Amino acid sequence: MESNENIHTEFARMLGRDAKEAQLGQKGHVFWFYGLSGSGKSTLANGIERSLVDQGRFVKLLDGDNIRSALNQDLGFSDLDRAENIRRISEVSRLFLDAGYIVLTSFICPKQAYRNQAKAIIGADDFTAIYAQASFEACAKRDVKGLYQKANSGTVKNFTGLDSSFEPPEATAQDWIINTELSSEAESVDSLVTKILPIVCNNH
Ligand code: ADX
Repeated sequence: MESNENIHTEFARMLGRDAKEAQLGQKGHVFWFYGLSGSGKSTLANGIERSLVDQGRFVKLLDGDNIRSALNQDLGFSDLDRAENIRRISEVSRLFLDAGYIVLTSFICPKQAYRNQAKAIIGADDFTAIYAQASFEACAKRDVKGLYQKANSGTVKNFTGLDSSFEPPEATAQDWIINTELSSEAESVDSLVTKILPIVCNNH
């Protein structure tokens, strides 16, 4: 990598996050959904986005397949590429946070180390991890994108939960957990919005 010695960052003169949050009348925060492919994280994030926007909130949703088809189209599914995927998404989330936005992200983010890195980049006070919990078998049965079938037949490699590992949250992690096998989409969205609102309405 080239040296950064000729890069002169420009933060001091820029309007700060406080001013943006005051203008938007909300507190920015990143809600970081993660879980297996097909676990329901994007469905939840989309439902929550609609509900919050209906209530006048300013929200940005970042989703795995969308980001991978553009900003991160150079990345694949090796451990190194997944780590870089998450690092870039964390930085992008931080930019929206600086603009006072509520950020919802939806990525598999399969390892605790990646989630820890996202939290470190974004800042622990502005970060809530939400695990969309569903068993591999349930996700394979849903198989919304047909990827489980392709992975089983060997046409998709490094597939999460099959030949690439997924680490559920550690017992000590303070992550919220929503089991998408036990509750309906509407129930899950409602209960999450109820928990999200006090965080983003804080002070404004
Ligand atoms: S992550 O592991 O780096 O966080 P990310 O959420 O961006 O993954 O992308 C996952 C999406 O890519 C899945 O929802 C699925 O549509 C697609 N995909 C394609 N190949 C794979 C694979 N080998 N493993 C998992 N997801 C894959």
